[in-house]
Amino acid sequence: KRVVAFISGGGSNMLALAKAAEAADFPAEIVAVFSDKADAGGLAKAEALGIATHTFLRRDYADKEAHEAAILAALEALAPDLICLAGYMRLLSGTFINRYEGRILNIHPSLLPLFPGLNTHQRAIDAGMRLAGCTVHFVTEGMDEGPVIVQAAVPVLPADTADTLAARVLTVEHRSYPLALRLVAEGKVRMEGGKTVTSGDL
Ligand code: GRF
Repeated sequence: KRVVAFISGGGSNMLALAKAAEAADFPAEIVAVFSDKADAGGLAKAEALGIATHTFLRRDYADKEAHEAAILAALEALAPDLICLAGYMRLLSGTFINRYEGRILNIHPSLLPLFPGLNTHQRAIDAGMRLAGCTVHFVTEGMDEGPVIVQAAVPVLPADTADTLAARVLTVEHRSYPLALRLVAEGKVRMEGGKTVTSGDL
C-alpha cells in the first residue's frame, strides 16, 4: 500500500512509520511526506531516508480551500492508498476527508475519547489520571473522534510533568502507529459505517 504522511513538526511518528516500512514484510511504503510548515524537523528526517517531501504553506494560498486543493492535486499524482497524519496540526475539511473516506489515519496523544484536542498530558495529570496513552484512529469530520484502530496505555507517575509524560507516551506512539498501519494496510482492520471493523485473527 502507498502511504503519504502529513507532518507539521518533528515527525517522530512519521519516522517510526518509515522505519517500520523498511521491513521487507511490511505491507505499506511511505511514498512522500507532506508538511504545512517549512521548518518542520520531520522534513530533514524524511529526506535523510530518501523520501520525497512537499511543503504547502497556508500563507501561499488565498484560503483553506485553495490550500487543500493544492494538497489534493499533489495527492492525485501520487495516488496513495492511505494517508497518515503524524503530528499534523491542521484540521482537514469534510470534502478532503470524504475524498479519502476510511483511508486517513491519525495519532492522538491521549486515550480517546478522553482529552481530545491539545495539551493532553497536562490535562491528564490535572485530572488525576493514573493511566495515559495514545490512540490511532480513522479520521472523520469531527476532531479526534474517529473510530479507534489501536490504543496503548502508560502509567502516570506522581512526579510526572507534561514533558515526562509526553516522552513516555511517545515511546508507545512509535509502536502503536506502525502496528495500526500494518493492520489497515493488510486489510485486517477497516472503517465501515463509521465503525472499526476487524476481519480475521489479529
Ligand atoms: C505527538 O505526541 C503526537 O501524538 C502528536 O504530536 C506529537 C509530536 O508528534 N500528534 P511527532 O513527533 O511530530 O510525530
